[in-house]
Amino acid sequence: MTAQPQWVQEAWEQTKNKVKRVHTRIGDQFPHASVNGTYKLEPAAWWTAGFWPGLLWLVYRDTRDEELRASAESCERQLDVLLTDAAKVDHDIGFMWTLTSGARYRILGDEDSKRRALLAANLLSARFNAQGNFIRAWNGQGLEGWAIIDCLMNLPLLYWASSVTGDPRYLHIATRHADTVLQHFYREDGSVSHIVAFDPVTGEKLEVKGGQGYAPDSAWSRGTAWAIYGMSLSYQYTGNPAYLNAAKRSAHFFMANLPEDHVPYWDFRSPEGDSAVRDSSAGACAACGLLLLADQVGELEARMYRESGEKILHSLYSRYGAWESETEEGLILHGTSHFPEQQNVDVSLIYGDYYFAEGIALLMGYEERFW
Ligand code: GLY
Repeated sequence: MTAQPQWVQEAWEQTKNKVKRVHTRIGDQFPHASVNGTYKLEPAAWWTAGFWPGLLWLVYRDTRDEELRASAESCERQLDVLLTDAAKVDHDIGFMWTLTSGARYRILGDEDSKRRALLAANLLSARFNAQGNFIRAWNGQGLEGWAIIDCLMNLPLLYWASSVTGDPRYLHIATRHADTVLQHFYREDGSVSHIVAFDPVTGEKLEVKGGQGYAPDSAWSRGTAWAIYGMSLSYQYTGNPAYLNAAKRSAHFFMANLPEDHVPYWDFRSPEGDSAVRDSSAGACAACGLLLLADQVGELEARMYRESGEKILHSLYSRYGAWESETEEGLILHGTSHFPEQQNVDVSLIYGDYYFAEGIALLMGYEERFW
């Protein structure tokens, strides 16, 4: 591996040390948001269940620490009960199994993990609405026609399933969903809607909803980050330039709206303006997407995306990191989960920590992604 800048090496060391330290309490449980310094735990069915084991795998890949591996494997086994009960899972299946079974299969080549990830891909495929060409987001009566921008990050499980089985059906579903996002979620300026409601019978577009953003026409920063990374991953798997173009448009919108410290507000169009709270998790996820985009374009553009991704990660490390604190379990502070419902505002979030670690690992030269 080529030598990395000093701050990247330090950030990776701090990340590994902190994950190891926090692991002594969290073990094989499922943390979500760190409130007052302590990660609150969630059941295995919660959408974030993949991120802690994913973080353990990122560190294990470098350190081969067997205790981390055992906990990541235990987390994966705890998800098994969900694979036989479709009512307990939703479209977040992709987040959950990509970072558990998918990561373990990539690192260890384990056949049980491959089987689990394929079962998960089947469950995700079953959520496809063939009339509207979208993957249904959540369960519950009245939500049959809802699709959300986050789901772009669930598509890699389907692309992966087609590549390991040689069966293109998963790919067809993923690309139809991605095309629907292009057609119905994307705006002229590269920002995106969070939720689009379709008629589940006719497939007709009914309504755009604000969801976790400030308003239907605002620009939720994490949604924009899901779009940057999700569209560039769709391009990675398909080679369809429409996805690359979409990823670039969202990237330019995101970069142009960043405040001076390169870490986004929770919504780029919230009325609080410059006094709005940040969402560090959006910054971390977008940085991973920008680093992927940099690998997909010509030299000049590549430098711009890479520098932007690095600036975000450097700011997260140097201004948002909780490295010295013995009492804070999160890696990076100032994430915002759901501002409109005032849930977990200005806290550490496990997905912010995961994407921060993924981004730093990428800068360290660990180029294989779990997605
Ligand atoms: N709905 C997943 C998220 O909070 O981004």
